[in-house]
Amino acid sequence: MTSLGKFITFEGPEGGGKSTQVRRLADRLKASGHTVLTTREPGGTPTGEVIRGILQHDHAGEALCPESELLLFEASRAQLVRHVILPALKNSMWVLCDRFIDSTAAYQGYGRGFDLKSILEINAFTVGDCMPDLTLLLDVEPQTGMKRLTLRNQEHRTTRDRFEREQVEFHERVRAGYLQLARRWPERIQVIDSMREEAAVEEDIWMAVSKLMSR
Ligand SMILES: Nc1ncnc2c1ncn2[C@@H]1O[C@H](COP(=O)(O)OP(=O)(O)OP(=O)(O)O)[C@@H](O)[C@H]1O
Ligand SMILES: [Mg+2]
Repeated sequence: MTSLGKFITFEGPEGGGKSTQVRRLADRLKASGHTVLTTREPGGTPTGEVIRGILQHDHAGEALCPESELLLFEASRAQLVRHVILPALKNSMWVLCDRFIDSTAAYQGYGRGFDLKSILEINAFTVGDCMPDLTLLLDVEPQTGMKRLTLRNQEHRTTRDRFEREQVEFHERVRAGYLQLARRWPERIQVIDSMREEAAVEEDIWMAVSKLMSR
């Protein structure tokens, strides 16, 4: 089957199931004959993956100031858009990206308290017209997300990253911020109740994607 690809981003608080559902949707799209590229932020390019290490675990050995944090996310994104996402879309692939512009608005805007208008402008500078066709906001209560992450970290023997170590109030602001963004751009951002079991979340996502296909 040949068809033009779409650009879908997955957003939401920690532990909402973004990475899980990216995998599930990719499998489902492939099974229906689409070519799919999955990627993530920060990261997805060699430069971006180095930046990811700095952002998640202070790999440079120095605490990050919030301004650097914001700009590092944007630098990683600029590389990803130009070296990965745009070329894939040009090749008619479906692109599924684990976090994108709305993460910066939610975490650095609502979470860290930077002026939202400025963040939206920096996002626009970074991505140009490479905007998602659909954004799936996997909404989860921070407590539930954190519980899932504790289990995941135990299973994978990993430790909490810089964001996972933030206070619950920070995560509450991030979640509320995401929901505000969804109210602002209801055409693009679809809220998915991610406090249900994985298969139910997958079904809602598939319905939203099917609607996008028929557009
Ligand atoms: N609907 C669900 N119900 C219960 N557990 C889930 C659900 N979806 C995912 N999980 C589990 O919760 C953990 C976190 O899921 P996942 O890594 O997909 O979340 P994430 O949103 O990508 O997290 P992060 O923000 O840290 O990247 C994993 O161990 C995953 O198996
Ligand atoms: Mg993830």
